[in-house]
Amino acid sequence: MSKELDGKSVLLTGGATLFGAAVARSLNEAGANVAIVDIDAEAGIRVAQEIGGSTRFYLIDITSDYALEKLVGEVSDAFGGINAVVNLACSYADSGAESTREEWTTALNVNVVSMARLGFYARPHLAAAGGGAVVNLTSISANVAQTGRWTYPVSKAAIVQLTRNMALDYAADSIRVNSVSPGWTWSAIMNTLSNGNREKTDSVASPFHLTKRVADPREVAEVIVFLCSDRASIVTGADWAADGGYSAMGPEQAVPAIPLLME
Ligand SMILES: NC(=O)c1ccc[n+]([C@@H]2O[C@H](COP(=O)([O-])OP(=O)(O)OC[C@H]3O[C@@H](n4cnc5c(N)ncnc54)[C@H](O)[C@@H]3O)[C@@H](O)[C@H]2O)c1
Repeated sequence: MSKELDGKSVLLTGGATLFGAAVARSLNEAGANVAIVDIDAEAGIRVAQEIGGSTRFYLIDITSDYALEKLVGEVSDAFGGINAVVNLACSYADSGAESTREEWTTALNVNVVSMARLGFYARPHLAAAGGGAVVNLTSISANVAQTGRWTYPVSKAAIVQLTRNMALDYAADSIRVNSVSPGWTWSAIMNTLSNGNREKTDSVASPFHLTKRVADPREVAEVIVFLCSDRASIVTGADWAADGGYSAMGPEQAVPAIPLLME
């Protein structure tokens, strides 16, 4: 039976981390040849080896235009073209209201500018393949204020707009561009901060996700695979919530507030 990404090649940034590795695995299971791009060589090589098959690792700093231009040529040569790009790499450098110019510049450079520049270099390859897909990872942080966080949420909000701009201009080459906004997702940072305690992480996330838990990265990967595939042929310029209902919930959370008036 044919799979939804059979014969397609997908370039994935940030594929070395726990979340990115799950996305790489799902893309591979959907039949894609996956190029994992990251600055973490040790983890990137390990993930590519674990997934196996045609998966390749590329040690690249996405803030280098020179490296990005070289990268798309190499991936295209290795896989006979590029059909989709998934922009997952990010920087969490953020000191909130005290963020320095350097932190602002880093967050915007890694999270926003690098997506735009990779899109620029990948576009001719996607167009040459008859069109394709770009998926940009943003976050629930794009739409709400979170105490102590400035540079990251601002960069993620910019990605929602960048996605619309890319979708509009790339449509001429039959390239669809969408973003995905996860809520809390089991990832390297949560693994580290909770000391690997997923149950505790779920219970902290419970009051502000309708699903009462963090997402598994593979659940978010399902949405990414769909958006990369031809099944999403009518979908472009959209932001997809993959957030367990975080963005549907208001400040009252899932607690009846009106009865409090009668207490
Ligand atoms: N973890 C969550 O709960 C969550 C929630 C919402 C959105 N997201 C989004 O999902 C994505 C992954 O998040 P994560 O928590 O797994 O992040 P992470 O920090 O664990 O992983 C980011 C990856 O990007 C790589 N990277 C960083 N700078 C790079 C550069 N200059 N060049 C190449 N690679 C670089 C890192 O080495 C790392 O492998 C991000 O876009 C993030 O905004 C995560």
